[in-house]
Amino acid sequence: MRIVREPLKIQKLVSKLSRPVVLVPTMGALHEGHLALVRRARKLARTKGTVIASLFVNPTQFAPNEDLERYPRPFERDSSLLRKETCDVLFAPVTADMYYPDRSISLIETRLSQVMCGASRHGHFDGVCLVVSKLFNLVQPDIAVFGEKDFQQLAILRRMVRDLNFPVVLEAHPTVREPDGLAMSSRNSYLTKQERGQAPIIHQTFSLAEAKVRAGMASSAKLISWMKQKIQSAPLAKIDYVTVVDPTSLEPLTQLKPPLLLAAAVFFGKTRLIDNRLIQ
Ligand code: PAJ
Repeated sequence: MRIVREPLKIQKLVSKLSRPVVLVPTMGALHEGHLALVRRARKLARTKGTVIASLFVNPTQFAPNEDLERYPRPFERDSSLLRKETCDVLFAPVTADMYYPDRSISLIETRLSQVMCGASRHGHFDGVCLVVSKLFNLVQPDIAVFGEKDFQQLAILRRMVRDLNFPVVLEAHPTVREPDGLAMSSRNSYLTKQERGQAPIIHQTFSLAEAKVRAGMASSAKLISWMKQKIQSAPLAKIDYVTVVDPTSLEPLTQLKPPLLLAAAVFFGKTRLIDNRLIQ
């Protein structure tokens, strides 16, 4: 596996790589969820094509009060995990090489980022769009793989690819979970033992909620209020949002008619966990 640090070098290298080139963007602190994406990328690239993982803790998607400084950065561990997954290239730039101090061009998403996580994380998805568009320009991937765990991110990136005509196919991978149902996340490592014990309530609530939808419950408002109560039955859970939306437009739904997305963000202490359930 080649490790490339400089944006100019990755651009030069990419022109010589055998295609398809499949990109997996990450911020590192890799877990089984990330590695499942890399495995999917390997399958899509087959033996002939090239798998590129990027590892960059992108400052433009963190608000000043968020965890940019304390975000885990175990580089040696990450690179050895990627090597084991037969990743071909690791692109791991430093901030100074990705962002000029006098940069003055931004990307702004004005619809899908107004709800859910975007409502409490202003500018977050604009930062995601900016860095992913830069990665697409640098790596020129044929395919890029993203996780459904960050469903809103995926929906917004699909919109970005559509609206800005990026010549890339986005591949969605289902959420990888711990045995007790908690969605894997680099932020799970912040949880205390007690918080970790209660965190699977989000997933459990979605399973029971899905059964209610399948059994014919019709009102979103009713289901949302039931889900809120259920999640709050875990004493350490503090709800940021619980919602039911259209999976493409992310607009809130009043009627529970599939396809629909159940989504929630819940604080356990200072740690904000997100999860979702797609009901088709
Ligand atoms: P990060 O949180 O490191 O996630 C990288 C990719 O892994 C994303 O596509 C995310 O959805 C996926 N992922 C994370 N946990 C997962 C899980 N449990 N199951 C399946 N996939 C999972 O998302 C980002 O980084 C950044 O915003 C990024 C896109 C790299 C831009 O900076």
